[in-house]
Amino acid sequence: MNLTLKIWRQKNANDKGKMVDYKINDVSPDMSFLEMLDVLNDQLINEGDEPVAFDHDCREGICGMCSLYINGEAHGPDRGITTCQLHMRKFKDGDTIYIEPFRAKAFPVIKDLVVDRSAFDRIQHAGGFISVNTSGNTIDANAIPVNKHDADDAFSAATCIGCGACVATCKNSSAMLFVGAKVSQFALLPQGKVEATDRVLNMVKQMDDEGFGNCTNTGACEVECPKGISLENIARMNSEYIKASLKG
Ligand code: SF4
Ligand code: FES
Repeated sequence: MNLTLKIWRQKNANDKGKMVDYKINDVSPDMSFLEMLDVLNDQLINEGDEPVAFDHDCREGICGMCSLYINGEAHGPDRGITTCQLHMRKFKDGDTIYIEPFRAKAFPVIKDLVVDRSAFDRIQHAGGFISVNTSGNTIDANAIPVNKHDADDAFSAATCIGCGACVATCKNSSAMLFVGAKVSQFALLPQGKVEATDRVLNMVKQMDDEGFGNCTNTGACEVECPKGISLENIARMNSEYIKASLKG
């Protein structure tokens, strides 16, 4: 396949940035999207140009690093996958592909297609954990029976990889699907109930402090989420928040 790529280039956080056109030929339909960008970067380096900076790590849908907006969709035109799992067979010979970074006030662009998603880390630090006494008298987690339905829902919430597609897709740049998943994964389990009140209050406060927008129930986040995180997690977070506020 021969393609035209229109890629966001931005030297650093202060640069204005602009779309730049590139031609790339002989792209195999079996290549992943990131392998196609690798080929482009080899081409740019051979021509003495600066390669395109983009985030990636595992390249198998686990780490959540590959945050690209492709033809106006977070993680591209496929559903239930990350950018690294997208294959070039999804495109046609002669196509023009627009490639941009995830855009949100709380995810500032660092360079080209790389954004700073450390706001998510700070939300996690605010409460996305349980405190366990590791003195040697710790009870084995498996010793506490957990309802199968709750265990399944907690596991589903825990599959969130923190990629940020929900934020990039939302017209309000809301992080509620991410925070809802992180709150739910603990709220559903007995081990998470001990710190439940502080957790939800602190995580929601941090989310607001980071500048993420509010949820207006468009559901776009659920559609673009590569892990199928359900909107039910937002409802659960809201109910946990109300319970915690009344206690507080
Ligand atoms: S909820 Fe989905 S889209 Fe949002 S960060 Fe988690 S995995 Fe990514
Ligand atoms: S590079 Fe890890 S999820 Fe894509």
